[in-house]
Amino acid sequence: MQAIEQFAPGVILHGGDYNPDQWLDRPDTLEDDIRFMKEAHINEATLGVFAWSMEEPEEGRYDLDWLEKTVDRLYENGIRTILATPTGAMPHWLTEKYPEVMKVDEHGIRRMHGQRHNFCPSSPVLRRKMQGINEALARRLGKHPGVIAWHLSNEYGGDSDAQTFIGCHCPYCEAAFRTYLKERYGTLEKLNRAWWAGFWSNRFTSWEQIHCPGEGSEHTMHGIKLDYRRFVSARMLDFARAERDAVRKYSDRPVCTNMMGTFDPLDYFKWAGELDFVSVDCYPQWHIQEDDTKMAQWASLYYALTRSLKRMPFLLMESVVSSVNWTPRNIIKRPGMHMLSSLQAIANGADSVQYFQWRASRGSSEKFHGAVISQLNGNNTRVFREVKALGERLEKLAPRVLGTVNRPQAAILYDWENIWAVNDAQALVNPFDFNKRFLTYYGAFWDRGIDTDLIDMDSDLTPYRLVFAPFNYMYRKGWVEKVRRFVENGGVFVTTCWSGIVDENDLCFLQVHPLADLLGIRPEEYDVSAPYMQNTIDWGEDHFLVKDVCGVIHAEGAEVLAVYGKNYYAGSPALTIHGYGKGKALYAAAEGREDFIGKLLDEALREAGVKCPIEMEPVHGVTVSCRQGDGRKLAFVQNFNNRMVEVFFRKPYQNAESGERVEGAICLEAYQCLILEETQRKTESLG
Ligand code: GLA
Ligand code: ZN
Repeated sequence: MQAIEQFAPGVILHGGDYNPDQWLDRPDTLEDDIRFMKEAHINEATLGVFAWSMEEPEEGRYDLDWLEKTVDRLYENGIRTILATPTGAMPHWLTEKYPEVMKVDEHGIRRMHGQRHNFCPSSPVLRRKMQGINEALARRLGKHPGVIAWHLSNEYGGDSDAQTFIGCHCPYCEAAFRTYLKERYGTLEKLNRAWWAGFWSNRFTSWEQIHCPGEGSEHTMHGIKLDYRRFVSARMLDFARAERDAVRKYSDRPVCTNMMGTFDPLDYFKWAGELDFVSVDCYPQWHIQEDDTKMAQWASLYYALTRSLKRMPFLLMESVVSSVNWTPRNIIKRPGMHMLSSLQAIANGADSVQYFQWRASRGSSEKFHGAVISQLNGNNTRVFREVKALGERLEKLAPRVLGTVNRPQAAILYDWENIWAVNDAQALVNPFDFNKRFLTYYGAFWDRGIDTDLIDMDSDLTPYRLVFAPFNYMYRKGWVEKVRRFVENGGVFVTTCWSGIVDENDLCFLQVHPLADLLGIRPEEYDVSAPYMQNTIDWGEDHFLVKDVCGVIHAEGAEVLAVYGKNYYAGSPALTIHGYGKGKALYAAAEGREDFIGKLLDEALREAGVKCPIEMEPVHGVTVSCRQGDGRKLAFVQNFNNRMVEVFFRKPYQNAESGERVEGAICLEAYQCLILEETQRKTESLG
């Protein structure tokens, strides 16, 4: 990661949120912290995430001495600082004097002070106060040799009290929404057409008639909701940009914010372009089921998405060493899982392992959240020893890992606007739950040890040989042409039922499916299966059970690979393939389950010539991720099973850490991560 490597060369960051401000009256504790950090190979601390009331105890009076002293002390001890701006939680003096900084909910009620992540992103006062504290921080510490990066606010939009929409409904935000719409449509006539506003008498005759949609107001009209979602993401980004510009005034350090992977309200592809690098917080619920495979797939998806935002390494800004405290059942990580789950992030492109948090608080709401140092026993804990073992391993791995990143040949479409629209479509299955369906597609790649990027419709398709677009309901401007070029030039494109239904305004396409000729099909109806129907997808000798959606289509040029087994459309196409230019397009009219999607992926991989970079037999719960760069390739073979499994390597490899030769049948311990490279450091066939 160029941006941050400049300030932290040669290290995989290992650290996390550190809140010494909670312990200023306990110098002994602060002494212990430094000692324990060094012992655990911690080389980074994230400071000031929620420290506004300490940094500016009264309006306009900044007290940053304690902070500077902490940065100094950490730096003297070889520990770098990532410095946060404190807007994640507002001080009382601010909300008391200027209630307008608090956001207004979708029922028109202004929030009272409390919790966090609940400011109005449009409030001029808040923006001024933010600028004041951010500039003060940047002036004081923005060039400190110990400060390597900026962490803007915290999990923007992550308001746990938010209902349908996270946006603010105050007059400033409503005005900003109208301005946004004016810029997008120019005239009310165009807006009315785009929103199909005549329906239910919604034709607007003045801009003032438009309000932010929500539970308490208009919330059935797709067009306004879609634009509002776009606006909410853009508005929050506008605030983040203002934060970024405030620190950049006095500091040259790279800027990120901690994202939340698939967090629905923020279109992170649009955010990534405004940040120097990206980072993510990831909290899988390990061991909630006996088989951790699904959870591992989910975490991998999170990392792959984060990496894909800039197609470069990212930071794992927050994770937990044992258990969180906010799920219904908070199970602690079993021995070995911390090592594996942390290396999973590295395997997927992270250049750090960071925690929330270093030291558990003594009081308040997160005191029972996992931390490296908990209230009892100091460094004499199992958790501490596991963190230390990880720190040692990361230190040794750093020279091999840094400068590499995953370079997948396959991508899956994960486009926020498509997700907003398809989840809001009111059709077929309600709620549609795109993410849950999506995980099955991602999981099929994961099972086969094939790295995949997640892309949106603005992404460049040229790095890929295979693009999957499940439930690609919306075709945004430019997408159809891009897919055409991709397939013409030899790419393999796989899409499914309930694709190509609406344009970027959520208006249905008329007469002809926009990719009908490329797919060689004509879709006609969309049915939904019920469990008693037991419809099947008959593909050669295999009969797969249908999941939910059944597209009834006609093959018009495409070859039929599979047909429906039952219903009035028995015998009609359930899966087709069609040559177009130098490439191929597959259309799965039927929504299958894991088994069908697995076979579909195998077919597509064969067509595209994409393989797992390691020649091994697939084993349940075991996956491979591969990082490469500067002529180096490293493959992380990860066993998420809670028991030993045998894997079989068809070619000899070298253990990148021990130098041992690895070939044939090998036992992987429960939660083991084996890091392999080509024998004799030759690289031509890995990947
Ligand atoms: C989020 C926040 C942290 C903390 C953790 C707890 O990721 O950013 O401040 O609350 O959750 O898991
Ligand atoms: Zn507002």
